[in-house]
Amino acid sequence: MHTLSIGIDKIGFYIPQYYVELGLIAARDGTNPSKYHRGLGQERFAVAPPDEDIVTMAANAAYPLLDATDLQHIDTVLLATETGIDQSKAAAIYVHRLLALRANCRAVELKQACYSATAGLQLAASYVRANPTRRVLLIASDISRYDLHTPAEATQGAAAVAMVIAANPRIATLDAPSGCYTADVMDFWRPNYRHTPLVDGKYSTEVYLEAVKHAYHAYHAQGGLNYAQFAQYCYHLPFNKMGQKAHEYLCKVNQIDNDIKKLEESMRYNRIIGNSYTASLYLSLCSALDHRDDLANTSVALASYGSGCVAEFFAMTILPSYLSQRQKAHHQALIAQRIALDYASYEQFWHRPELTQTDTLSVGQYNRSRYRFTGVFNHQRQYCINPDS
Ligand code: HMG
Repeated sequence: MHTLSIGIDKIGFYIPQYYVELGLIAARDGTNPSKYHRGLGQERFAVAPPDEDIVTMAANAAYPLLDATDLQHIDTVLLATETGIDQSKAAAIYVHRLLALRANCRAVELKQACYSATAGLQLAASYVRANPTRRVLLIASDISRYDLHTPAEATQGAAAVAMVIAANPRIATLDAPSGCYTADVMDFWRPNYRHTPLVDGKYSTEVYLEAVKHAYHAYHAQGGLNYAQFAQYCYHLPFNKMGQKAHEYLCKVNQIDNDIKKLEESMRYNRIIGNSYTASLYLSLCSALDHRDDLANTSVALASYGSGCVAEFFAMTILPSYLSQRQKAHHQALIAQRIALDYASYEQFWHRPELTQTDTLSVGQYNRSRYRFTGVFNHQRQYCINPDS
């Protein structure tokens, strides 16, 4: 019997046009930059300017992917984020309007720390399996922002990854089984009254490893592929060293020498973009797809983690057409166009206007991409399309 394949038909990311070199933070604090470059495996982090938020990043990620067929068949928009802009209204609705998607569509926001895009992927795949002519636009969009002068500051970042989930996809099929793990822990959380998260940094790294370990064993208990059958591993990467440590564990339980080669190409983008929470794992997938030309018909392992916590270990098969579908040139152009911030500009951007204190706010222009956040009028967020985009 022919089984329908479901998975990622298109995938692409967007990043803000500004970044901070970690050497700048090291110089400010008198820290050896090697702590960041080698100790965390990070070089730079992306910084969103005041006229950029999860909505503009999400729309900027999705816009270059969508053609007339997508616009006709997408009837569901799922937006995964932990940088919510509203306690009630889904950010997906703003994105739906900016992208001019059809009105007969559902739009919803998903939350579970960095994990929720994976929940979105599984939900989207089940939906498309039951309704093979439909497509789902799944977007992960986040700005990771920690308090200045804390150890977590070096692990900030920002990005959005957009995916079209469809039947007979051209990038990758989503494969069963999937290993999940949930435990109620307080490693990282952001109460509604805070703009930055509370984090127990060292503990969070331990919980991450423990959760990925349980998810991996749950995957295996259901007859998943063995270590050697995967050509590539992609992890949630709050910083690259975290993924390396999780991979070390997998190598250890499989009694093989630490095999960094199966990880390396998935870490290139994350090293210079930083933590993008829900988008991080899928940015790591983009990195592997863009930097490896030999993935056709191979299996890729993905390990998703979101604090609090939920983890999932699952697999995809990469399709030969990924080579013509990947957005490598676009991604590399976004990276090449970025501007390095000096320390004063970084602090200025970090202190984003606090919108709770005012019902009206006008934001200056820093963001030159298609979609821009222009401010708040009467407590309502305003967006525009840059006329020169
Ligand atoms: P820290 O205290 O600044 O760093 O915090 P450290 O002192 O532990 O050093 C970090 C590493 O650098 C260590 O390596 C040092 O040895 C090494 P390790 O021993 O761990 O292998 N080091 C050096 N290496 C080379 N040359 C040197 C040097 N000096 C030191 N000169 C921490 C680090 C990650 C805790 C902090 O940045 C933090 O709190 N970050 C935020 C939390 C986080 O990212 N947690 C990750 C797991 S939780 C997760 O992934 C979920 C999350 O994405 C959010 C969500 O799901 O919602 C965060």
